[in-house]
Amino acid sequence: MRLFKLLIFLAHWGVTRAEPGKFWHISDLHLDPDYKVSEDPLQVCPSAGSQPVPNAGPWGDYLCDSPWVLINSSIYAMKEIEPKPDFILWTGDDTPHVPNERLGEAAVLAIVDRLTRLIREVFPGTKVYAALGNHDFHPKNQLPAGGNSIYDQVAELWRPWLSNESIALFKEGAFYAEKLPGLSGAGRVVVLNTNLYYGNNEQTAGMADPARQFQWLEDVLTNASRAKEMVLGEEGNCQPSPLLLLPASLSPTVSLLKGAPISVMFLTPGVTPWKTTLPGVVNGANNPGIRVFEYDRATLSLQDMVTYFVNLSQANEKGIPLWELEYRLTEAYGVPDAGSRSMHAALGRIASDPGTLQRYYVYNSVSYDMEACDPACSAEHVCAMREVAFDAYAACLRAPGAAPAPRLALLLAALLGLRALLAP
Ligand SMILES: *[C@@H]1O[C@H](CO)[C@@H](O)[C@H](O)[C@H]1NC(C)=O
Ligand SMILES: *[C@@H]1O[C@H](CO)[C@@H](O)[C@H](O)[C@H]1NC(C)=O
Ligand SMILES: *[C@@H]1O[C@H](CO)[C@@H](O)[C@H](O)[C@H]1NC(C)=O
Ligand SMILES: *[C@@H]1O[C@H](CO)[C@@H](O)[C@H](O)[C@H]1NC(C)=O
Ligand SMILES: [Zn+2]
Repeated sequence: MRLFKLLIFLAHWGVTRAEPGKFWHISDLHLDPDYKVSEDPLQVCPSAGSQPVPNAGPWGDYLCDSPWVLINSSIYAMKEIEPKPDFILWTGDDTPHVPNERLGEAAVLAIVDRLTRLIREVFPGTKVYAALGNHDFHPKNQLPAGGNSIYDQVAELWRPWLSNESIALFKEGAFYAEKLPGLSGAGRVVVLNTNLYYGNNEQTAGMADPARQFQWLEDVLTNASRAKEMVLGEEGNCQPSPLLLLPASLSPTVSLLKGAPISVMFLTPGVTPWKTTLPGVVNGANNPGIRVFEYDRATLSLQDMVTYFVNLSQANEKGIPLWELEYRLTEAYGVPDAGSRSMHAALGRIASDPGTLQRYYVYNSVSYDMEACDPACSAEHVCAMREVAFDAYAACLRAPGAAPAPRLALLLAALLGLRALLAP
């Protein structure tokens, strides 16, 4: 079970003067409501499974999902750092990594409700574009291609953020498109339910276009292109491959720009520090992270991305979480902005300069893992960033001296504090 939380900027056109704006992107809050500071290492958190959790602190543990106080602190930190964002992207995964038997529909909905209330309380009146993760359903991963009681109830919880049309769409497939708030230019955020393409989703197995989401997306993009609107994409979970199934209407754009990067995906850190139990991943925990994007309201082009984090072990030592700047994208990689051309250049630098590679590697775990990234590690990361499709990634790894300079049209910039959360 994997969940890449990401953000894709599909297209922007129109020429207008720069109008700087900011928005937040948060993800993978993964509340563990039963987290407690216990002397008994086996009683700290259900999300650690059978692993003992020694010396747990009040703000959480790298073996556990988030205690409520950590999530509360992250949302209030957003308010402190950037209280007036244009909007917030919230890409889901709200519940703990525990077996289905420990949750149930009511428990999942109660957690989504609790987080929704917190965000509304701290950011009243702010537009939030929320998506469901694969953990935001019961049984997990099994998000259906049609109406059901969980989509119905979540749509009601999110009613304050949605138009009537989006509520109706959400109830049928958990995807929707909404206008950007308060912009002079027209712009739209498209929220996709990529859980419908997840290999572990038995509800949609074998369906060519579950919930007719691709057909709908194509219509949205065609309409937007006719109206010269801009579109910003947001997904909950994503398997890399479906991303290549770009709607037919996009193919001309792809071929026209062949050989140059046309798009970039940003994978955001999670708030949960939870160390993945997936086989093959070594020490896959992270510090809690939150992220602000700076963009141009007129063109939707990304200017910069700033990640803030809390050093969890330090928070537990000091008894208080200190949210601090981790890095600013343009400074860390020496690029002028966060557009696809710049990300292409950043990837080239990561692939060729050991200092930049190491910096990327540390940010990839939100400054948790300070080990040196050796050549095998380098090849893995650079190939993962360069190639979206698994076959191309595998071929990249096999290439002699793996990971030469990037050259793909669609650049996967996993740069940047990737939070690939993997569950058993
Ligand atoms: C949430 O955070 C705010 C700001 O730090 C604090 O005032 C409040 O007491 C916290 N609430 C809980 C339940 O931790
Ligand atoms: C949305 O639907 C609600 C009830 O279903 C209705 O009261 C309201 O007027 C509708 N809003 C718009 C803008 O159509
Ligand atoms: C596209 O525009 C047409 C005409 O305005 C509208 O009827 C249709 O609902 C739109 N489709 C989508 C998916 O927004
Ligand atoms: C986080 O805090 C721990 C404990 O105080 C410290 O050893 C570590 O160097 C800190 N990490 C960073 C990135 O500052
Ligand atoms: Zn997750």
